[in-house]
Amino acid sequence: MYVCSCFGITEDQVKQHADGGACTPRQIASACKAGTDCGGCVRRIQALLGRGDCARGELLEGRTAPSAAAPVALGTAPDVRLSDAA
Ligand code: FES
Repeated sequence: MYVCSCFGITEDQVKQHADGGACTPRQIASACKAGTDCGGCVRRIQALLGRGDCARGELLEGRTAPSAAAPVALGTAPDVRLSDAA
């Protein structure tokens, strides 16, 4: 079944990219362009990824999600007071 009619990308193709390490709609778009034209398929791609295709592959193969590689999230900086910094 087609997920992205703009580029003719099927559900199986999205799952294959997810199994290959694409864990976000942006990474799916980088792999096959799905979602980069009208954007009407992005929610369906998110739903497919949300079903655990990517996470399951990571658990089975011991991979780390590329999106999890960011070591520090915004807003998590250590508590620094102005008086300490001056
Ligand atoms: S349906 Fe996927 S970009 Fe339009």
